[in-house]
Amino acid sequence: MSPHRVELVALADAAALADRAREEVLRCAAQAVAERGVFRIALSGGSTPKALYERLAASAERADFARWHVFFGDERCVPPEHAESNFGMARAAWLGKASCGAVYRVRGELRDPHEAAREYEKDLEREFAPQAPRFDLVLLGLGADGHTASLFPGSSAVRENAKLVVATHVAKFNAHRITFTAPLINAARCVMFLVAGGDKSPALRAVMQGRDNLPAGMVLPLNGKLLWLVDRAAAAGLVEDE
Ligand code: 6PG
Repeated sequence: MSPHRVELVALADAAALADRAREEVLRCAAQAVAERGVFRIALSGGSTPKALYERLAASAERADFARWHVFFGDERCVPPEHAESNFGMARAAWLGKASCGAVYRVRGELRDPHEAAREYEKDLEREFAPQAPRFDLVLLGLGADGHTASLFPGSSAVRENAKLVVATHVAKFNAHRITFTAPLINAARCVMFLVAGGDKSPALRAVMQGRDNLPAGMVLPLNGKLLWLVDRAAAAGLVEDE
């Protein structure tokens, strides 16, 4: 088996994708807790994962949340109660209804985003010490422009290969974001993309075909599994309809 285990699964629609994603997260969590006594997961932001988080909130009897340590793969530079906050979305959909062992929020409200990034990197180092940070599962989304987390095409963050977390200015939003870097993502035991909607189809095809040098195309766990869960609309032109 190559060290790069890559799998793509096409689901009928966004609801089926969220159902399958819940099963994959629960399976990953059970394995991590059995092997190491803790499940360390990094959540994705945006809108796609909300349905997954709602399903996790309804799965408390199937998950030992007290052993789950939750991080965020990226965050907007806003306070937690802001409509754009990834933490705020996950708290409303799931974390506010569950008792996870630890939840590490990026302090997006800090005036200096670089300070927020440095603080988050310290949280990561403390959580994983004395080992280097290696998540059991990193959840990611895909932007129509091929970005993932807050690694946007053309940004310096895409080329960062020393730091684990950086602040990056996103020109299209004229705003800073805090994001995991590719090396941190690629250290994971498993990375799972959730991609839904026909607007993602061109970027998904480009990533799968290794074209256009897109940030999402940089994700390839060095010694782990890469799982793409996509809905049929996003997979248009990629998989043959049966
Ligand atoms: C964010 C995410 C980002 C997201 C993609 C897809 O903070 O917005 O980390 O990378 O996953 O933009 O977003 P949707 O799920 O809303 O399409």
